[in-house]
Amino acid sequence: MSEFKKIDEVLDKKYVDKVIKLRGWVYRKRELKDIVFLIIRDSSNIIQCIVKKENEDFEKARKITTESSLEILGVLKEDKRAPNGYEIEVKKLNVYNIAERFPITKDQSKEFLLDVRHLWIRSRKMNSVLKVRSTVFSAIREFFTKNGYYEVQAPSFTKAACEGGATLFEVKYFDEKVYLTQSWQLYAEAMIFSLEKIFCIAPSFRAEKSRTRRHLTEFWHAECEEAWKGNDEIMETEEKLICYLIKRVIEERKKELEFLKRDVTFLEKIKPPFPRIRYEEAIDIANKNGLNLNYKSDLGADEERVISNQFSTPFFIHHYPKELKAFYHRPDPKDPEHILCNDLLAPEGYGEIIGGGERIWEKEVLIQRIKEQGLNPKDYEWYIDLRRYGSIPHAGFGLGIERFVTWICKLPHIMDSIPFPRTINRFYP
Ligand code: 4AD
Ligand code: MG
Repeated sequence: MSEFKKIDEVLDKKYVDKVIKLRGWVYRKRELKDIVFLIIRDSSNIIQCIVKKENEDFEKARKITTESSLEILGVLKEDKRAPNGYEIEVKKLNVYNIAERFPITKDQSKEFLLDVRHLWIRSRKMNSVLKVRSTVFSAIREFFTKNGYYEVQAPSFTKAACEGGATLFEVKYFDEKVYLTQSWQLYAEAMIFSLEKIFCIAPSFRAEKSRTRRHLTEFWHAECEEAWKGNDEIMETEEKLICYLIKRVIEERKKELEFLKRDVTFLEKIKPPFPRIRYEEAIDIANKNGLNLNYKSDLGADEERVISNQFSTPFFIHHYPKELKAFYHRPDPKDPEHILCNDLLAPEGYGEIIGGGERIWEKEVLIQRIKEQGLNPKDYEWYIDLRRYGSIPHAGFGLGIERFVTWICKLPHIMDSIPFPRTINRFYP
């Protein structure tokens, strides 16, 4: 007997009238007097199967429930009325498990779907998002390895804050207190002295109390650090990475984007270079569109939504006031109140997907900035050492992978971009 095929593979004229074997789960079932319609799903797609009364497995088919697992042997027919235009006339049916009454039925609330996330990830929507996500992960690795970066890892237990104390998760570490990492950055800055061009993909943790559409407490972070680069050059790397990811997702996942109703032509139009605007210009755009900000205002989710709604391409905001960002950003020597940093914002209201910039490489400036931010230089001794032994200009950035996936799929909420989201009040299942 022939081997099992994937549904996507058999949706093809060349298999019409051929005997095929499939296995999967029952996605929908409908029953008439002498015929049972089963829509079967597997990881690749769905297909309609019919079991007729004369079939010896007809009674078995009648007993089947939504999400039961089974394998079938049947003959492929073209049928314009069936989803995807094909149908299988079942000859033989084997059931692995008759599913109990599946709790997910039509019109369920978002909260309920999060409670049964372990089952909801089987949905066609989540299946499509997870495929896009998989492509994004492999494309990030492709981009960096093709461009001469080494993949490195950093610890998840850390002793000091990288992105400010407000979002640190404290962990008991035997008799000591440590934190879950917010970013690999401080360790990355040490590793460039060995490898020069590096990247990593790892989870980062933020004790985010804000309940927004774009914050998780555990997110996947694609980070890059590079010796000898400044803010302008690192923006170019960010732009190239994003264009590469868009290109690969369109190449590999057009079907999924269309299923998610993402306008692919919008994405196809995105080309480098991305606009680069100074922080003050971003504030002006916000104020022209109904906000009332000043040149020291922080840009959160609401402000970024207003600004990024004015754009149809990703764009950079650079030169934030130094008070608004982490201690390690290098003040612009020509304008020391502003820093050589950049945020890359996705258009269409999505806002920040990357944070990056040039790092301070002068020891005295670094110690002063650590103190100005109310931190203790003692906690950063090893990091300050990097400015003692062969310090060099360097820059880097971090891409929030869920933020990117949310935008590229045009999802309404970041929770839909990750299989098991973690937020302030969500850690089950
Ligand atoms: O802007 P952030 O805080 O920058 C850093 O962590 C730098 N140390 C990165 C670096 O230069 N190596 O975070 C970087 C990105 C943000 O732009 C955002 O996309 C994502 O990480 N991010 C979050 N994503 C989901 N939930 C959260 N709570 C996030 N916080 C940051
Ligand atoms: Mg940021």
